[in-house]
Amino acid sequence: MIIQSVRGTRDILPRLSEQFVRLETISRQQAALWGFGEIRTPTFESLSLFQRGIGDTTDIVEKEMYVFEDRGGRQLALRPEGTASAVRAYIEHHLHHEHKTMRLFYVGSMFRAERPQAGRYREFEQIGFEHFGDPSALADAELIMLAIKILMNFGIKQISLGVNSVGCANCREPFKNQLKESLRVIRDSLCEDCIRRYEKNPLRSLDCKICSSIVREAAPKFILCPECSEHHGRLFQFLNSNKIEFQEDSRLVRGLDYYTRTVYEIAVGGHGAQNAICGGGRYDRLVESLGGPPTPATGFAIGVDRAVEAVAATNSFHERSGPGLLCLVLADVQENTQTYALRLVQELRLKQIAVTHSGPEDSMKSQLRQASKAGANFALIIGEQETMNQTAILKNLITGDQASIGYNDIEKALKQST
Ligand code: HAM
Repeated sequence: MIIQSVRGTRDILPRLSEQFVRLETISRQQAALWGFGEIRTPTFESLSLFQRGIGDTTDIVEKEMYVFEDRGGRQLALRPEGTASAVRAYIEHHLHHEHKTMRLFYVGSMFRAERPQAGRYREFEQIGFEHFGDPSALADAELIMLAIKILMNFGIKQISLGVNSVGCANCREPFKNQLKESLRVIRDSLCEDCIRRYEKNPLRSLDCKICSSIVREAAPKFILCPECSEHHGRLFQFLNSNKIEFQEDSRLVRGLDYYTRTVYEIAVGGHGAQNAICGGGRYDRLVESLGGPPTPATGFAIGVDRAVEAVAATNSFHERSGPGLLCLVLADVQENTQTYALRLVQELRLKQIAVTHSGPEDSMKSQLRQASKAGANFALIIGEQETMNQTAILKNLITGDQASIGYNDIEKALKQST
């Protein structure tokens, strides 16, 4: 029996993995420009970190985590997101002692046992940015601008940004009580999860996959306290003055409990379940609730798989610049020819020219076909004659043009042809 990849996971093959690397590279370049340092945290953590960090009545913690006990009887979980881990590391290494504000970013796999479908995987990659120590709306605006900058540089143009405020404990408490009243009236129409969460966390019903629409209809209006309202107004001012287009989306609540005030999502092709390519917001209480000093914080994460799919959908995968891949084609299997070929490819690679080749046992026609399939733009054909004369035939695989050139002129000829 053939063993296949596990449901909800996938192999990222070479053409696609290039796009993952491209987005990672753009993110790292921007991170350096915006003063973020890279952090690498473990793939699994104590289960309690996510229960306390994300909230034990969220869908992620209740239904979607990969939880296991290790040989030492410890309760562990594969990380479903990166913020809780970044906060744990921030506290564990006393990073607040080093600087008043701290900017961290990470790239890595996250794991959620959701029902797999297009754009939704059980292992997926996130690139996340977290900014600790700055309570201002300016910090929120700056991070939103960073997310947009990365996505635009990657080639995603048609994005829509939805922004909301989920307030703070002060404005949420009275709302929670009013919401409970409203939910009591429609209790019979609620799903089992919402009935169970009613006492502990009725706010989660607002983004319940089953009953959010009836809940929202019945819910009272959420009123921000004066401080949260001012923060929200400032954020809008900053976004407007930087000409960032956004929609105020009062329905946006996000699936993680740690948010306070600003929350946002960036989507492509409208706001649908799998269209969100980036999500984030402010989480001013999380550091303290995980045992650190009171520290305001704000951040976002880009879903790399979805961002790559969004670019693929618009066909704007960038072509490689320069001569691209060169394929060496051998016209015979003589030892001399192979020795000459080996020397040639080594020298070309030293000059930063990417070279591949297929099996010399194959016919020339087959080698050329394989060269095109591998995405090569040029082939360098070498036979007995070329080995003797220290030359090569440079063939443009797109136009079919070809010319014999001297060994020392290959680099120059390639540059001229591109
Ligand atoms: P999130 O909205 O849960 O936020 O995830 C961020 C992004 O990860 C989503 O917008 C989506 O693109 C991608 N994503 C989520 N689940 C999947 C999945 N099953 N398959 C493929 N892609 C997925 C967070 O995780 C927060 N930690 C973001 C944050 C950072 N907030 C503050 N700082």
